[in-house]
Amino acid sequence: MEKPVTIVILAAGLGTRMKSRQAKVLHRAGGKTLLQHVVDTALELAPPERIFAVVGHQAEQVRQSVTAAGIGFIQQTEQKGTGHALIVGRDSLARLDGYLMVLYGDSPLLRTATLRRLIAQETEGSAAGVLVSAPMDDPTGYGRVIRDARGLVLDIVEQKAGTPEQLAIREANMGIYCFRADLFWKHVDEIQPNNPAREYYLTDMPAILTRAGHAVEAMQIDDPGEALGINDRAQLARVDAIFRERKRSALMAAGVTLVKPETITIDCAVEIGMDTIVEPFAQILGATTVGENCRIGACSIVQDSELGDAVEIGAFTLVNASVLERGASAGPYARLRVGNHVEAGAHIGNFVELKKTRMRAGAKAGHLAYLGDSDIGAKVNIGAGTITCNYDGYKKHPTRIGEGAFIGSNSTLVAPLEIGAGAYVAAGSVITQEVPPDALAIGRGRQENKPQWAAKRRKLARTAAAIKGGD
Ligand code: UD1
Ligand code: CA
Repeated sequence: MEKPVTIVILAAGLGTRMKSRQAKVLHRAGGKTLLQHVVDTALELAPPERIFAVVGHQAEQVRQSVTAAGIGFIQQTEQKGTGHALIVGRDSLARLDGYLMVLYGDSPLLRTATLRRLIAQETEGSAAGVLVSAPMDDPTGYGRVIRDARGLVLDIVEQKAGTPEQLAIREANMGIYCFRADLFWKHVDEIQPNNPAREYYLTDMPAILTRAGHAVEAMQIDDPGEALGINDRAQLARVDAIFRERKRSALMAAGVTLVKPETITIDCAVEIGMDTIVEPFAQILGATTVGENCRIGACSIVQDSELGDAVEIGAFTLVNASVLERGASAGPYARLRVGNHVEAGAHIGNFVELKKTRMRAGAKAGHLAYLGDSDIGAKVNIGAGTITCNYDGYKKHPTRIGEGAFIGSNSTLVAPLEIGAGAYVAAGSVITQEVPPDALAIGRGRQENKPQWAAKRRKLARTAAAIKGGD
């Protein structure tokens, strides 16, 4: 039987070079925290009980940020280096047999396929450990891989400790390792902080194992982009761009049209159906799913929402935490703030704001309205300028409008309020009382016409001017 692999993700550092109050692994790329990316990759290779994250800086927030259940956490209270991060985990880790894979929480781009190759090389060969390396045009900041004549790894030399000749080596350590667990734990105490940074370097392990008579190999990958470590904001931006690019390519390959794709931002977790068109500068974020044949208009932002098939989102529209069923439409220039449910074929037009509102099938609010905490019945028409007054300064109150009702333009609906099915509200009304089904409610000053008033006024003005001119 294959020997199991334990995966340890190092995520305790603050990330000084980020210049942030937030732990580095909590920063996001492609819409997900750096750590979550690595955890998700690990979960494709090992069961959760074989996955551990070493946490230290803002340990509590870092733990909370991981959405996967069942993975273990190891506390590294003081960050004395990548080797130290494993030493403090010995009690939980050393009893686990098989192989030990170490990943860094600040390298979120690595692919499962690469890690599978790494595991295969370690488990099928005779080396005590294999690490991933890549040739880099500019390896500044990375450890350099020192090989012997046979190509085995003798040592890894860190940027801060390297001689000019060593730093001229372009083969960089990607910070991904697979060791035989028994040998690793047998020799781990030989890691000593004898370097300029006074840290315990995990990268001393190849030299230690070599000294003990074991072989350490390097598995080269051609594309160092895959293991880009994030140490500062510029690298964060670069990695974010790579995730976005990967996501766009995957969506286009799956039949989604992206117009001017380089301008579009789509988070990793988003799902989009075939033949949907996404226009320039749209952002589709968080846990959003979009059906087939939809259109997401230019410059719209759709977040944590569920869009059925054939949904139309007009340009410059914001949709957050809302559900839009098949054939519903919103925008241009609409704002669905939170907790809305727009049923099949319902329409939200320009400059309409919705909050915690259900628009039942075929209901329409075409222009300039605020609908909050309301339940709008099927086929209701909401006139331009309609406002639900849902807040009395203390509490929020609901508005319910029955099926087929017609709300005239510029109506003010003071909640709590019930308007019956089929009722009419006259334009410009302030409605404070229940409207029975099929009734007409008028709540405004009655119009009065004063015949000839304007003509008389003009005549008066002419007379006054004539008197003045005669002086
Ligand atoms: C490390 C490697 C370097 C490699 C590079 C690849 C070492 C000594 N050097 O350098 O050879 O080329 O990664 O990206 O390993 N961490 C802890 N506890 C600690 C220190 C660090 O958990 O005490 C975590 C950090 O949170 C981070 C990861 O380990 O996620 C790597 O640490 P970092 O300081 O970024 O190492 P590099 O200087 O990039
Ligand atoms: Ca790093």
